[in-house]
Amino acid sequence: MYNTSKLKSLQSLTTTYLSQPHKIELGPLKELLKFHEYQYYVASEPFISDFEYDQLYQHLITIESANSSLISKDSPSQRVGNSLNNSFETVAHLVPMLSLENSYNAEDLIDFDRKAKEGASLEEITYCVEPKFDGASISLLYENDLLVRACTRGDGVAGEDITNNIKQIRSIPLSIPLLENGIQQMEIRGEVIMSKKAFADFNEKLKEKQIATLANPRNAAAGSLRMKDPKEVASRNLDAFIYHISYFLPAPKTTLSPLLSSHSGSLELLWNMGFRSPQKEKKIIKGVEKVISFCSEFEAQRDSLPYEIDGLVIKVNDFALQEKLGMTSHHPRWAIAYKFKARQATTILESVEFQVGRTGAVTPVAKLKAVALGGVTVSSISMHNEEYIKEKDLRLGDTVIIERAGDVIPQIVQSIPKLRTGKEKIIQFPTNCPVCNALLEKEEAEAVWRCNSPLCTAQIIERIIHFVSKDAMDIKSFGEANIRKFYELGLLTNIPSLYQLDFSKITGLEGFGKKSIDNLNAAIEVSKTQPLYRLIYALGIRFVGETTAKTIASHIQHILDLKDFTEEQLQSFDDVGIKVATSIYQFFHEPKNIELIESLEKLGLNMIQTNDTAVDGNLAGLNFLFTGTLTQLKRSEAEAMVESRGGHILGGVSSKLNYLVVGEDAGSKLEKAKKIASIKIISEADFVELINSNSKS
Ligand code: IVH
Repeated sequence: MYNTSKLKSLQSLTTTYLSQPHKIELGPLKELLKFHEYQYYVASEPFISDFEYDQLYQHLITIESANSSLISKDSPSQRVGNSLNNSFETVAHLVPMLSLENSYNAEDLIDFDRKAKEGASLEEITYCVEPKFDGASISLLYENDLLVRACTRGDGVAGEDITNNIKQIRSIPLSIPLLENGIQQMEIRGEVIMSKKAFADFNEKLKEKQIATLANPRNAAAGSLRMKDPKEVASRNLDAFIYHISYFLPAPKTTLSPLLSSHSGSLELLWNMGFRSPQKEKKIIKGVEKVISFCSEFEAQRDSLPYEIDGLVIKVNDFALQEKLGMTSHHPRWAIAYKFKARQATTILESVEFQVGRTGAVTPVAKLKAVALGGVTVSSISMHNEEYIKEKDLRLGDTVIIERAGDVIPQIVQSIPKLRTGKEKIIQFPTNCPVCNALLEKEEAEAVWRCNSPLCTAQIIERIIHFVSKDAMDIKSFGEANIRKFYELGLLTNIPSLYQLDFSKITGLEGFGKKSIDNLNAAIEVSKTQPLYRLIYALGIRFVGETTAKTIASHIQHILDLKDFTEEQLQSFDDVGIKVATSIYQFFHEPKNIELIESLEKLGLNMIQTNDTAVDGNLAGLNFLFTGTLTQLKRSEAEAMVESRGGHILGGVSSKLNYLVVGEDAGSKLEKAKKIASIKIISEADFVELINSNSKS
């Protein structure tokens, strides 16, 4: 989309204006924002940090709010729709949205190829093969360079107008160089998807809010398109692949792009116009034999993709041939979907184990007859709560269908009552805690049974496991198994005991040589300096996940400030509703919890907020970038260290950069930084020293 010289000029424009945003004019500012959106969302090669993008964006809002007549339809600010303005009117597609014929094996593909060769009167056909994206299909209409309408598939003839929601997807450009390519009007087709990462984050947020999680990214994407509030759509981080031009009207007196003579050419054209087309994923293949081997190779790599696909689509590449082959009322004769093997399996629900979590919640876990599913063996699946078992009418001995979508945790889809023999048993939920025998309790309007005994061993251990976990205090070399072992041996009794370990008693335990004890000791020490939000999250306050912990931390200086907030004040924080506020309030009004925090403070843990708005962080105002492989720290840890001290991470080398931290095998970033005299190039060891120094250097 951007050639090298354009890229260079936009990069240097960025550098100039980041330091003096007031000097930039509206036109170049919009061009810059569009460029950085493209780099981030389509090319996946961001040049600046999110923070820097926000600075530029904020400047755009400042200019536009001073004079609303300057707001153009394709301004980056116009993605943000007004709340609740969606009505979803039915609109007809210019060209019907057809489906695809399915194939499942080599024979089906050979059959398809035979018919295509006959229809085309050719000995061999060249195909373009690309992923079959597993999301929700959309149709977009562009006129005179502008996106004018977006709609769902509907019944194939007419769909629903979802333009406001589609504008929230940053990889869909609001304007494109259509006329430049000889086109006046163009209707295109694609798939809205949610990446595996966005899906996992989204489900995590739902879990934090105790809302039922979604089964797979496809449902999440499809459900997002018809949301009433475009802002909610924006928060879901959707993406879109565009794979088909269904119609174009040539512009008068212009020359049509020569790319419009084949499918692969059209993908290239779409890519050049700024769409995320499968330009890099596509493969042009001559003859069906090679198509077949490509399909099986691709299927094997399916899990390594960052998004879900459910197969491949094989398309006759030449447009003239496509025309010749034509279509049925259901599908084109020039394309076929090759569907991957289903990730569902049937197995037997053999028994149920009731597990006690750190909040005392008792979770029923189905123990299944081991079965292979999407490359892994599954033998146990969470059944969440009593309601879930009742709703799905799951019984001991039932044959059940289970499903696993990509990285997603397996789920029980349903039982198959037809296969019951009469010997199946109703699942009885226990009345007492399976670990400490205390009577289980259930709050009104809650689905879970809980053990509320403060002495329940299961909960104490789970709380310690959560405290040291990766997203909490991240004490490495302290796996779940070690915690259980240390607890059994009396070496760990509660959270503070993590910081009072008697290492002489650990020496000699299996798997604990001098080196691993040193590592453990070092990891415990490092955890004392973790940013405050990690401690808040680690304490395991109900409904407080990582995101909420970050929000809370940004409102306080010392953790015990939270004792002084009323529930109303807590509710004024972003994302904190009544339930969360009550939980935080109760936690900080429970003397035992205050005692716990005070003892952790005495043991030397950081209790103070040092976020990037704090001017006293020792790296405040400084920009960092890491390159090469770090050996002592993980990249994410090192970046978090910078941010927690008020510094920023940049997306690329520019004159704004203050420090380039160089690990092993550093490449082009190092070369580039050497050319800018103001950048300090330092080693990982220098970086650690800098972090520990108190002066702002
Ligand atoms: S081509 C006439 N290409 O699969 C052209 N479809 O099962 C028809 N899909 O409705 C579509 N990835 O929603 C095409 N690379 C791809 C696709 C794709 C996903 C979806 C699309 C279609 C469905 C058919």
